Amino acid sequence: MKNTNHYQDHIALITGASGGIGTEIARKLAAEGMHVILVARREAILVDLAQKIINTGGQATVMTADLSIEVERKRIYNEVLARFGHLDILVNNAGFGWYGYTQEMPWPLALDMLRVNIAALVQFTLLFLPAMRNRNSGHIINIGSVAGSIPSQGVALYSATKAFINSFTTSLYRELSTSRVKVSVVRAGPVTTEFFRTLNKNQSKLLNLVERLGVSPQRIAGSVWHLILNPRRRIYVPGWMSVVPLIEFAFGWIMDRIGPLDLKRQAT
Ligand SMILES: NC(=O)c1ccc[n+]([C@@H]2O[C@H](COP(=O)([O-])OP(=O)(O)OC[C@H]3O[C@@H](n4cnc5c(N)ncnc54)[C@H](OP(=O)(O)O)[C@@H]3O)[C@@H](O)[C@H]2O)c1
Repeated sequence: MKNTNHYQDHIALITGASGGIGTEIARKLAAEGMHVILVARREAILVDLAQKIINTGGQATVMTADLSIEVERKRIYNEVLARFGHLDILVNNAGFGWYGYTQEMPWPLALDMLRVNIAALVQFTLLFLPAMRNRNSGHIINIGSVAGSIPSQGVALYSATKAFINSFTTSLYRELSTSRVKVSVVRAGPVTTEFFRTLNKNQSKLLNLVERLGVSPQRIAGSVWHLILNPRRRIYVPGWMSVVPLIEFAFGWIMDRIGPLDLKRQAT
């Protein structure tokens, strides 16, 4: 068993801390002694979470921001530097999906998804990484999805944003392989959070089935903590989801045929 005291008082920023996975990661890292910086738009939820963490002896700071906006991301970066001087752990978790025929997706919503799921992750990485490299320590954890390995009908843009995260993290991991700065992607399978409720307004039968396979956000948080103790390029949660890229490789042609049936049902 490793001595985890090493992480006491580390500074960890978690984006999307007002929602299922981000909230549980924040709780877990705070319980392990880190000072967590909670970032999202819904201030009341963040303040409540921070209070609960503080009430149980933890340390938490709320920084409200809309991460689709570039100047907001820069403001958060400057606030972190002014308040803490550095960052040890960056968890790029904020993100959302949209389900339906892609041609029906409104452009402002598509742009918003690109900004939150991709641009915020990239900009925070570019802002915080140089100081991590200078200090030769730090860990960037990107919350990806198995959806990035199995492009699926109805969630074309969401799958693509998660494929971007897989590729970006892998390249960065290779760049940093001689450094003590770590970067990892968590390829999560379905998780029981608000995510599905906002995604599946059309009540897709396939998505209902996928949601039933969901693990708890606490399980993702436990895996993130394990990843911090044992850094790796990627993890799948649950572990058996590591077969997903192989399913796409071997049986993608079947998906080509049966995948659209679920969407067609929604159109009638
Ligand atoms: N649930 C799943 O099955 C699943 C599976 C694989 C990967 N993931 C990924 O896990 C991450 C977290 O998802 P979740 O399941 O925890 O969903 P969730 O409960 O809906 O939480 C999403 C979080 O993202 C934040 N967010 C969204 N837009 C934002 C914006 N413009 N600015 C700042 N924060 C924003 C939300 O905060 P505010 O609304 O307060 O801003 C919320 O805290 C996402 O990246 C998702 O793609 C989820």
